[in-house]
Amino acid sequence: MNLNEVKEISSKFLLETYAPSSVAFVRGEGSKLYDTEGREYIDFGSGIGVCSVGYNHPRYSKALSEQIHSLLHTSNLFYNPTQALLAQRLITLSGYDMQVFFANSGAEANEGAIKLARKYGEVHFSKKRYKIITLSSSFHGRTLATLTATGQDKLHPSYFSPYPQGFVVAKDLSEIYSLVDEETCGVMIELIQGEGGINALPKEEVQKLYEFLQERGVLLIVDEVQSGIYRSGELFASHHYGIIPDIITTAKGLGGGVPIGAVLSKHKGIFQAGDHGSTFGGNYLSTQAGLSVLEILSELHHTQTLKATIECFHAHLQTILEQYPQHFCKKVGVGLMVGLVAVSEEVQKSIISEALKNALVILRSGKNVVRFLPPLTISKEEIKEGFERLRGVLEGMR
Ligand SMILES: Cc1ncc(COP(=O)(O)O)c(C=O)c1O
Repeated sequence: MNLNEVKEISSKFLLETYAPSSVAFVRGEGSKLYDTEGREYIDFGSGIGVCSVGYNHPRYSKALSEQIHSLLHTSNLFYNPTQALLAQRLITLSGYDMQVFFANSGAEANEGAIKLARKYGEVHFSKKRYKIITLSSSFHGRTLATLTATGQDKLHPSYFSPYPQGFVVAKDLSEIYSLVDEETCGVMIELIQGEGGINALPKEEVQKLYEFLQERGVLLIVDEVQSGIYRSGELFASHHYGIIPDIITTAKGLGGGVPIGAVLSKHKGIFQAGDHGSTFGGNYLSTQAGLSVLEILSELHHTQTLKATIECFHAHLQTILEQYPQHFCKKVGVGLMVGLVAVSEEVQKSIISEALKNALVILRSGKNVVRFLPPLTISKEEIKEGFERLRGVLEGMR
């Protein structure tokens, strides 16, 4: 199928929720993508932080094909060894004393976390606690509850109302203190805000908030849907912050392209059979994908290969920042969840669209950040080639 055919069929048969760029990829290898016309792209986006082990990774592809030829799904009516092993692996690697629930996406993981926090608030206190506080530049998903939890006003048009009750938005971390009351069961934050502008929250402020919440029995829910699974250089961004959240949610990079979400909770006895569930959640395909991703990435982490990749990527970003002050004013982010703050929204948009024309995939974040979420397995050569293509774009904009 050529691009025009894909566009024609898509516009006729798909509900209009996206505004896709004029490219359709049909194949990938390493950190390179190939479009319908056979053109090769360097991928600094990994499908918005999902393709953590790149494309056609030999071990990942082998593990998935073996699983496909064996068993994909049985439902959660039965024990599932692959699901059990992934939960064990996640917890062991995290070093946290937690238990896991598997869902199918980030929003769904956050829904699970909200339900868990509300039940905790009901069970543990004489007066029911149900309110969840979130931050104004957050993003937590597109279901009704997670959309309400998402602080960005532009995502709350009146035509979706009424929105669920019990969500309170704080303009920043410091406002949370005055918003916590006797009905608050949890505070949900991204330690590194992904959609809101690659904004890493200050460590000391997070630690202070964590202590404040712990003293009051208010749960800290850390949304690591984007920052989790080694994207920050550690399994969870929480590890950089020296805190053990009450609940962690994760998704994207865990499946490497197969949909999966996970809720990790240190409060183990809250959910009981029948409280929560999912038909697909934790099935053989997605949990085998998760096991393979963790095997590959924990090895990269252990051998310090990931650290070297991160240092290489940051060095290139720093050079770009210094060479093009007319386009960028700051480098932001942690690990391979990074961005360059463009001088304006207009500059941001044109860099991203010109990069795509120059066979480089990069992403937007917030109003004016050019976001980079490359596969964590990206090679130094692919990084170098990608930045050369970016330089080509920036030179043309001088
Ligand atoms: C921090 C965060 N939470 C939740 C979500 C929603 O995840 P999903 O699109 O898988 O539902 C996203 C998606 O970008 C995200 O970045």
